[in-house]
Amino acid sequence: MRQSLVMGNWKMNGSRSEGLALANAIAAGLKDGDQGIAVCVPYVYLSDVQGAIESTPLALGGQNVADQSSGAYTGEISAAMLKECGCTYALVGHSERRSYYGDTDESVATRFCQAQKEGITPVLCIGETLEERESDTTFAVIDRQLNAVINMAGIDALADSVIAYEPVWAIGTGKTASDEQAQEVHRYIRQQIAAKSQAVADKIQILYGGSVKPDNAKAIFAMPDIDGGLIGGASLDAESFLAIYQSI
Ligand code: PGA
Repeated sequence: MRQSLVMGNWKMNGSRSEGLALANAIAAGLKDGDQGIAVCVPYVYLSDVQGAIESTPLALGGQNVADQSSGAYTGEISAAMLKECGCTYALVGHSERRSYYGDTDESVATRFCQAQKEGITPVLCIGETLEERESDTTFAVIDRQLNAVINMAGIDALADSVIAYEPVWAIGTGKTASDEQAQEVHRYIRQQIAAKSQAVADKIQILYGGSVKPDNAKAIFAMPDIDGGLIGGASLDAESFLAIYQSI
């Protein structure tokens, strides 16, 4: 049985005091022994949030990580820096990074490796655009994005990572993939991994992301290959985020 995981992605939202209040409210809704819940926080608030949630079950993540380990890379944040701020996770290849900031399959794979070098679990985000879905290339896009990482890191590296399948057309749009549409792609991802390593396929958590809300989470999480969710908008409200976590 795979451990489930519900991860919030705050993106570029909120102030320091709002972030702290949100983290405190989420942590207050958890009990000792809860597991599999994390928030990915803007870099500049990581240390504050770390202080607030230290000794609670809530884990911390960065929203990206540099593809270099240190040096003259203005504006970048290394995996070692994330580690120092208490991060367990780092998102890599979020579709907003790929589409607005030029993160390529290759740089996403490098970021994945950098995170693992520091003992941070990379959360590899993959998913097709609406145009790609409509032109029937969803699986080809998934193959390309996944294989870029497998070719660089090796299949066994995936055992210590998380995948988030996020159809780009469902992110922040209020359109969710149907449970079956999501399950179909999750199953495909797991099969592709199983073809290379059954052990890794059995272990890896594959999250669904894209307009997950308290009222649709339960049905999505009930799908056999969906191990949890990556939550954007609904993670900015403690009550909604906790309700999603409790839907697992
Ligand atoms: P959303 O975002 O839940 O607001 O659609 C998901 C994500 O981008 O990770």
